[in-house]
Amino acid sequence: MGKWSIRMDFANVIAEKEGPVAVITLNRPQQLNALSYDLVKDLSLAMQAFDQDDQVRVMIVTGGEKVFAAGADIKEMADQGPFDERIQERLKYRDRINKISKPVIAAVSGFALGGGCELAMSCDIIIASETARLGQPEVNLGIIPGSGGTQRLTRAVGKYRAMEMVLAGEAMSAAEAERFGLVNRVVPVELLLEEAKSMAKKIAAKPVLAVKAAKEAVLKSANTALDEGLEFERKSFYMLFASEDRKEGMKAFLEKRKPEFKGK
Ligand code: HXC
Repeated sequence: MGKWSIRMDFANVIAEKEGPVAVITLNRPQQLNALSYDLVKDLSLAMQAFDQDDQVRVMIVTGGEKVFAAGADIKEMADQGPFDERIQERLKYRDRINKISKPVIAAVSGFALGGGCELAMSCDIIIASETARLGQPEVNLGIIPGSGGTQRLTRAVGKYRAMEMVLAGEAMSAAEAERFGLVNRVVPVELLLEEAKSMAKKIAAKPVLAVKAAKEAVLKSANTALDEGLEFERKSFYMLFASEDRKEGMKAFLEKRKPEFKGK
């Protein structure tokens, strides 16, 4: 990709976009991108801004080549009580990350631990570098995962492997994560962002209404019984018949040409 066209100003993340792809880079390298209150807030605000930006179709969240994120900021958490206002505020910002409607790709290199692993799992697709290590070491601190680790990890890798990670606190290598389906694929470090961007561009070229409905429907499967999920899928499926892009997609196929999608 060439020059970034837009860059938003945040203290703890770098938020950039070029055309339909936005990249948000966690930017506390000295603390291994530990997820402080301020970082989570910046990340959440940047993602929300891109979610509302019609030019952006897909987001990439990364920590750069060295580390994705070493978890919640332990220094910050050390003195906190359960009802501290900042903890509640933090959760509010963190929860908004789960509500992003556009596809989000995590590009993970190095440690993705605790809240870092949970952040990656909140994304829709995870591309990992060969150095990635994903884990939930919270037990070593006398806590348990607090942003979805016990739930999303279990759904991703199954009960027994999840138990081992959460109870023993040991991280998974990139190769193992790929084998267990916790990451989509593993690439050499220097190709990580390129691979994530290539995936992002592929998705960005698809009709936007169908992409949005597809993400919503897949996420629905985690929260519903099969019958309800199938009903939801069926409704979204027929809803898309009202879109111009659906008509164009089918017409173009029959006319043996490339479709020209308008996002309507
Ligand atoms: C605050 C952190 C940090 C963290 C690293 N640092 N992880 N600061 N919070 N989670 C800081 C270190 O204090 C150190 O700062 C600097 O980053 C470099 O870290 P080192 O430990 O010196 O690096 P290294 O020896 O390479 O070890 C890397 C590591 C280790 C294995 C990732 O840092 C580590 O175990 N970190 C904690 C991982 C963890 O427990 N994560 C889960 C957090 S709980 P100084 O100033 O000394 O140079 C969580 C709960 C989520 O995530 C729930 C959300 C609601």
